[in-house]
Amino acid sequence: MATVAPPVIELVGEASPSPAGPVDATEPLRPAPAVTLPRYAQLLRFNQRQIEFVFRARRELGEVFTMRSILDEPITVTSHPDHVRSLFTAKPELVPSLTAESPLRPIVGANSVLTANGPRHLRQRKLLLPSFHGESIARYTEMIEAATHREIDRWEVGETLQLAPRMQAITLDVIMSGIFGVDGKPAPGTPEHRLRETVKFLAKASTSFVAQFGEVLNAGQEEARGLLRRGVKALDDATYPIIEARRRAADLDERTDIMSLLMRATDEDGELLTDKELRDELLTLVLAGFETTANSLSWTWERLLRAPDAYDLLRDAVRSGERADEVVEATITEGMRARPVIPMIGRRVTVPWRLGDYVVPAGSPVSMSILLVHHREDLYPEPFAFRPERWLGHKPGTYEWIPFGGGTRRCLGAALAMAEQRVVLRTMVERLDLEADRPEPEHAQHRNVTMIPSRGARAVIRARR
Ligand code: HEM
Repeated sequence: MATVAPPVIELVGEASPSPAGPVDATEPLRPAPAVTLPRYAQLLRFNQRQIEFVFRARRELGEVFTMRSILDEPITVTSHPDHVRSLFTAKPELVPSLTAESPLRPIVGANSVLTANGPRHLRQRKLLLPSFHGESIARYTEMIEAATHREIDRWEVGETLQLAPRMQAITLDVIMSGIFGVDGKPAPGTPEHRLRETVKFLAKASTSFVAQFGEVLNAGQEEARGLLRRGVKALDDATYPIIEARRRAADLDERTDIMSLLMRATDEDGELLTDKELRDELLTLVLAGFETTANSLSWTWERLLRAPDAYDLLRDAVRSGERADEVVEATITEGMRARPVIPMIGRRVTVPWRLGDYVVPAGSPVSMSILLVHHREDLYPEPFAFRPERWLGHKPGTYEWIPFGGGTRRCLGAALAMAEQRVVLRTMVERLDLEADRPEPEHAQHRNVTMIPSRGARAVIRARR
């Protein structure tokens, strides 16, 4: 009997076109339908059950809707790649980033590459870009590998552990090394060590309900209030001594770390960055750089441990060495599609903007839901299935796979984050057999601007080599 070939399932598709971009002021405005819950109910529900919240809004209201956020006015949320393209390719002055108004602002201040807009943003970005290029971060590979082995050596077979804090220990060492030029872990007693411990403590504390409530209280504030104020003071107390010591360092001119580079840089008037500007920039890089990458890895594991075929595919490829690079890349790409740690990014359009059937007025905040774009049926058939094979022989689209955002605000650390994920995931797969502690998925908890696994991505260690 002749065998029938199984149907080839296309795992990556295309969306039908939708008009988007700046329109004439005479164009009639047309607001998108709104989520109707009271504002604070929306904020709390979004914080606690982000995935359910946005999927329900899309199901009930369509691919463009408005919701309440920490901003005073409603925000329009879109999930169409053509709308994303219009916002990523527009001139920066037409679409300033909303990070200046985000919950990060009271923590990292207004002066950093993340929170600034206009000429200051472009200048800081140009200054930092070379340090984050592929060639510059290639030198971190060995160090990432060493940090991963150090971590794994401490784990016991049979133990159940939360992967998120373990991944953070690795990514915090990597980012601190790149920024401050510390070799390996900062030594106890040094100001860098104090900063590392403070960041670790605050990252842990910020998942508590009290901290989440504090985040809502800080909604839209320029300066931190309440408990957050104490956290910011702890960060300041740990960062300024590093700046002070480095200003006095005899070898400042020869050093190649990012902090020294920032300290030597001058603006168009020949002025050096002030201590406050440096503090904002350094904390931005540390905070933007370690938790995002750690949680991205944790989510990939959370998914992998509930997708036995994908785990088998990866384990076979890594341990046999056959197509290992390709399968590791595909698994990370799928992990970041299924659970983008920053699930939403935003711009404030300075002119009226069309988003498909709707037109929002000049001055409106517009958000791109990365999570919803990544779960469109037309782009990703069976969007809720974890299928790394979607990406074998297929490159992610610039406006369809957007975990690092895009345009002139695209994540500065994307190459570093990818390098870290490749090395850590591969090393872990080589040395460990992991299992989920429970079959049901972990839900997504919102923290600041990130989405983290609610139980820290728990895994049982079944074997270690
Ligand atoms: C998996 C890990 C990471 C993810 C998912 C991620 C994601 C993002 C996203 C979505 C944005 C906003 C982009 C936009 O608005 O279009 C961003 C911006 C940024 N990220 Fe990352 N990031 C990661 C790791 C890192 C690392 C390792 C660093 C290193 C320091 C970093 C530094 C930054 C900075 C400085 C910005 C602001 C760029 C600008 O506004 O010009 N990120 N990131």
